[in-house]
Amino acid sequence: DWIMGDYIEEAVAKIREQVGDEEVILGLSGGVDSSVAAALIHRAIGDQLTCVFVDHGLLRLNEGDMVMEMFEGKLHAKVVRVQASDLFLGELAGVSEPEQKRKIIGRLFVDVFKAEASKLKAANAGSKGATFLAQGTIYPDVIESGGAKSKKAVVIKSHHNVGGLPEQLGLKLLEPLRDLFKDEVRELGVALGLPRNMVYRHPFPGPGLGVRILGEVKKEYADLLRRADAIFIEELYNFVDPATGKNWYELTSQAFTVFLPVKSVGVMGDGRTYDYVVALRAVQTSDFMTADWAELPYALLKKVSGRIINEVRGINRVTYDVSTKPPATIEWE
Ligand code: XMP
Repeated sequence: DWIMGDYIEEAVAKIREQVGDEEVILGLSGGVDSSVAAALIHRAIGDQLTCVFVDHGLLRLNEGDMVMEMFEGKLHAKVVRVQASDLFLGELAGVSEPEQKRKIIGRLFVDVFKAEASKLKAANAGSKGATFLAQGTIYPDVIESGGAKSKKAVVIKSHHNVGGLPEQLGLKLLEPLRDLFKDEVRELGVALGLPRNMVYRHPFPGPGLGVRILGEVKKEYADLLRRADAIFIEELYNFVDPATGKNWYELTSQAFTVFLPVKSVGVMGDGRTYDYVVALRAVQTSDFMTADWAELPYALLKKVSGRIINEVRGINRVTYDVSTKPPATIEWE
């Protein structure tokens, strides 16, 4: 609409004024905030923006290709895709404690991003390289980090964040979404031409599938989980609630699959199976501080479990998580 159109024009002018003829790098995760920030900044300064997309091997099915297709293919933005899955999975081998896993993933992410930033600088000899780091910080993040400093909060989960990165890289910060709430970021994304299903995607944690594979992370587990989760998400979109006309992806705030590295016995045809278990998690919440498990229709649960067990060889049991937050958390780690 025209109001959003005006907003975009203003924001674009502001970014151009702030950046001038300098260069910007941005860590693209595929999440809503970094995607909208990238689209907006690209609209303003085109090829003066380079996006760095770190593929840590803990992304969802086809996620990396989808991000590249959108930003490189459709928007024609400069995107460097860093294949770092061997590095991440290698460093995670043998580590099962959740906080330790989170810290390793966060540290590697910063290392990889820094290495990529200096490579870009070296490749453009003559130019001084990027002088700005862009981040998709939104207004609630601004409040939250202020609050966390003043309160002495118990750390339940150390969040994967790139705090301190601009200082370490010696870069100035560019945060064009700092004044916006999540709903406004989404509207802006749609107005910038990003697909609705990208802009309205459920939140996905920075450490990705790393915290949805309980205990030690292995490539085999990640591959099974990706396929099971894709089935769950596909069926949430397929099932429409007749009362509201909305599908169950829209009716839930967050839904995903968790990989449990335990085996249970099953029967398939006339053979015995001894395979892994997954748990489905779907919650409804307004602020993610408390959450209820979603009362998904039985027909949906039945379809999902049937498809996962039949289509994903290696998983023979599907469970549904009926825990509220608190006392459980939304993610299992
Ligand atoms: P919990 O599991 O604490 O999650 O109830 C609350 C919300 O936060 C998300 N989450 C994360 N988001 N980095 C993120 O960006 C993280 O490390 C992280 N850990 C949890 C979680 O998916 C849920 O939406």
